[in-house]
Amino acid sequence: MSDKCKKIYITTPIYYVNDVAHIGHAYTTIIADVLARYSRLVGYDTFFLTGTDEHGQKIEQSATARGKTPKEYADTISGEFRKLWDDFDITYDKFIRTTDEEHKVGVQNAFEKMYKKGDIYKGEYEGYYCVSCETFFMEKQLIDGEGCPDCGRPTQIVKEESYFFRLSQYETKLLDWYKNNPECILPKSKRNEIINFVEGGLKDLSISRTSFDWGIKLPASMNDDKHVMYVWLDALMNYITALGYGNGEENMQYWPAKVQLVGKDILRFHAIYWPAFLMSLDLPLPHHIAAHGWWTRDGQKMSKSKGNVVNPKEVADAYGLDAFRYFMLREVPFGQDGDFSQKALIDRINSELGNDLGNLLNRIIGMSGKYSDFKVSSKDVATYHQKELDQAHEIIENIEKLIYDMQLNRYLEELWKLLFIANKSIGDYEPWAKIKEGKTDEANALVALVVNILAKVSVLLYPVMPERVGKISSSLGFEVNTDSYNKLIVNKELMDDTTISKIEPLFPRIEEPLLATPAMEESSPKPQVQPKQEESNQSQISEDGLIGIEAFMNVTLKVATVVEADEVPKSSKLLKLQVDCGEAQNRQILAGIKEYYSASELVGTQVCIVANLKPAKLMGMVSQGMILAAKDENGLSLIRPEKSTKSGTQIK
Ligand code: MSP
Repeated sequence: MSDKCKKIYITTPIYYVNDVAHIGHAYTTIIADVLARYSRLVGYDTFFLTGTDEHGQKIEQSATARGKTPKEYADTISGEFRKLWDDFDITYDKFIRTTDEEHKVGVQNAFEKMYKKGDIYKGEYEGYYCVSCETFFMEKQLIDGEGCPDCGRPTQIVKEESYFFRLSQYETKLLDWYKNNPECILPKSKRNEIINFVEGGLKDLSISRTSFDWGIKLPASMNDDKHVMYVWLDALMNYITALGYGNGEENMQYWPAKVQLVGKDILRFHAIYWPAFLMSLDLPLPHHIAAHGWWTRDGQKMSKSKGNVVNPKEVADAYGLDAFRYFMLREVPFGQDGDFSQKALIDRINSELGNDLGNLLNRIIGMSGKYSDFKVSSKDVATYHQKELDQAHEIIENIEKLIYDMQLNRYLEELWKLLFIANKSIGDYEPWAKIKEGKTDEANALVALVVNILAKVSVLLYPVMPERVGKISSSLGFEVNTDSYNKLIVNKELMDDTTISKIEPLFPRIEEPLLATPAMEESSPKPQVQPKQEESNQSQISEDGLIGIEAFMNVTLKVATVVEADEVPKSSKLLKLQVDCGEAQNRQILAGIKEYYSASELVGTQVCIVANLKPAKLMGMVSQGMILAAKDENGLSLIRPEKSTKSGTQIK
């Protein structure tokens, strides 16, 4: 991490403009954005590229089908991609379009260089072409003599004059590269697949077409107007033309790329053709080509005809962009296929984001307010909590290599270990008890420990959830930037004296899916985003947010007397109460009030309960109601009848 002048170049694939963006595109782009934000945070000079792939027969056909010219059509869809990334606050440094003039010039110059080197020759192509995959195949590769081995669609026989790239000449050099650079293809299992494929033998690659027009012409020096370049040659070159290759070279200092992200379906183009082209151009090869898996929805392949394609904008609008970013990175180990379901997303929001992170922050805000008027000083943290600090710093030291190794889910898991240390230390040290014993310094040191852990987590979590982390860090009184990264992460220092400010809950609990579940029939309507507040009792809520008396009357509130109270072992929050609410049997209620009330002080007192809640299980025990309480920054206060009232009396 010492070389802060290091250049980091991150790329996404450039997306075809024959379709609108879906969750798969968002996934690649978000991962790249996380890497770019992380690199900038560390202080690396970073360049992040994305864009659109606009040439080829497939785009030409899609445009014609809509009565548009390919360029008109590409302008619209490319604009939609760009708008989505802007809405998603994707921090790309350049958005390249393969119809950009500079790109054309760069590709033509590259072609010329490869030709002069003797790596390109003219011949005749005879074979099978899949327009959908923009890929050539040999007869023996086809399914039932006709179908594309990748997508299954019928291929077409092509016999035409073509220029060829001498891919076969690069077989040994490619194999050497894979073998000498164990991390050139990530995950490593994919590298073996590529090695096997290349060892099977490489044929020269047809890199021009004469049967259609929508592509980059060969360089004028070739004097051969009939040909346009094969779309994959054109597209792959974007990674260097975007830096000015063959056209000014203004940003070529960023080459070679640190990480080139691709989906597993296009790995072969990136792990075989692309390095061979680069070798032909005498350019260094990328550090990592990282291939991610595919997303399904609720266990099913996504397709337009099923109407189940996940629209990333709808998900982000409904659940929050940062929660969506977190979910995608945390849910699947990089390289494996993942399944999107609202249930999985809601579970992670409620438990990991809401409980582990959001509640921790709220608790610490409450404690700092109560114990020290929101002023937090790190001065005594090392005295009382060196052990926790050491544990935290050990995790942090090992976490960073996970980023460029593309182990992003592990990276998040490790951050959650830090949150666990913080949550556990509150339970272990019971600052409220320290306050009662007059050990204010100790209580304040605990609060400061947790504030410091939260601050360090914020810095490292920032690349994944920039917006939410911005709120956390401003509540803790600091800013996430390279300076705070150096101070809190690299130098393992503690926070300066700070004043905490209150904040709205960051991840409000979500009870029900917020998006309509797609029906799987072709004729089904598009899923609609539902406003968050529309839940089961929506008919009782008027537009201005007021409820009728009947909605209130649905909730049974009663006075209850606490007859027994016990601590729940291993829980820092829960007390187990037996309450008399005028029924034949006492009820058991588990209440998250342990840090504010001791079990013994509750016995014999009266509380107010919600008596008609469905029983719930907490830590394996049934809870048959809920106790009413009010919580502010000074702590929690139970709501009780003013005078002693008969147990079971209904509250109206
Ligand atoms: N234009 C080419 C890439 C050229 S790069 C020089 C292309 N475009 S694409 O729009 O079809 O696909 C772009 C990316 O989306 C690919 O990395 C692909 O793997 C990814 N995905 C498409 N469907 C996907 C899922 N269902 N899940 C995850 N990613 C998926 O290929």
